[in-house]
Amino acid sequence: MKDLGGAIEIDPITCVLGGKTVSPVPIWMMRQAGRYLPEYQEVRSKAGGFVELCLSPDLAAEVTLQPIRRFQLDAAIIFSDILIVPHAMGVKLWFEEGEGPRLDPVASREALQRMREELDRKIVERVYEAIGRVRGALTSNVTLIGFCGAPWTVASYLVAGQGTQNQGPARQLAGSDPKLFEEIIDRLTNATAEHLIGQLRAGASAVQIFDTWAGVLDPASLQKWCVKPTVEITRRVRKAIPEAKIILFPKGVEVNDLAGLVKATSADAVSIDQYTDRKAARAMLSDYCAIQGNLDPDVLIEGGAALDRAVDVIKQDFHGVRHIFNLGHGIKPTTPIKHVEQMIARVREG
Ligand code: CP3
Repeated sequence: MKDLGGAIEIDPITCVLGGKTVSPVPIWMMRQAGRYLPEYQEVRSKAGGFVELCLSPDLAAEVTLQPIRRFQLDAAIIFSDILIVPHAMGVKLWFEEGEGPRLDPVASREALQRMREELDRKIVERVYEAIGRVRGALTSNVTLIGFCGAPWTVASYLVAGQGTQNQGPARQLAGSDPKLFEEIIDRLTNATAEHLIGQLRAGASAVQIFDTWAGVLDPASLQKWCVKPTVEITRRVRKAIPEAKIILFPKGVEVNDLAGLVKATSADAVSIDQYTDRKAARAMLSDYCAIQGNLDPDVLIEGGAALDRAVDVIKQDFHGVRHIFNLGHGIKPTTPIKHVEQMIARVREG
């Protein structure tokens, strides 16, 4: 590590989150533990199911560590899922093989009343136990990231009982019964803040809030369903743990709105997707927070000279400001491992 100006004994990502520029730029990948790794496939097939894998502290710790062993990334992200929160609120959760998550839908007052107010400790303690095991296995230069889904994104799965195109069912409910929808969001806000605090206390050094579906909201809805709950969650987390490091990922949101969100939350970093204009992001965000991103996951599949060029341009565009290299969204299952190695070497080079 260069540019640290002395004897700072913390990991590079915590340095960047804390206000320093670091060279070479640190790197991790969203969904870095996943199906593109044969060793993940092997554990996954033994686990019985995806939810079982998330809730087995041993196996979740093991798959969290796999990409660190293979690639020496600068951060591990705890292996879990954003839908573990509604599951810990008593909602049935399962994964349809080859399709995606399914939940018992919560789209009526009756269904909302059946949900627990507090997280089921027996469920979330498994995540915290996995975090403790991973922390114990990592060297101190590797950051451990905990995470959650933002209330809007989690609500969008909860209302439909599954992912849908543009999360129409949740947007519809928010329009037709805003009071009920607000109660769903409030419940998720409470539970999410509690889960982030639990992860930080268990040994996570930073947390990331995934708002994958923020980009489908109109400006007024964005304020109501994304900004307001995110501000509340960060406020509560910081009240419990003042030094908590928080990364936001409101995917598909315009840079102007990202800047508003960062100012309202004092987030330490914002993650940007591959469609975000880097120069605009640099101009409007870099004085306030670190920027994480934003290689196109499809360019990682392509590899070759196109990948080298894409890495170089991102490094150049964020040269001299606080940057954490990452993808614009999760790594895809068909990504060749060789390309991941190529990307990491290129990021760390010169
Ligand atoms: O990044 C990591 O390595 C940590 C683990 C992680 C997973 N999901 C594991 C996972 C994280 C951070 C998530 C977040 C998540 N989960 C989001 C937000 C980020 C994003 O990708 O948009 C969302 C929307 C979910 C809900 C979810 N989980 C969906 C829609 C799916 C199906 C899509 C798919 O890729 O299959 C999942 C399943 C899932 N979550 C997998 C993994 C590794 C694949 C499951 C498998 O092994 O079959």
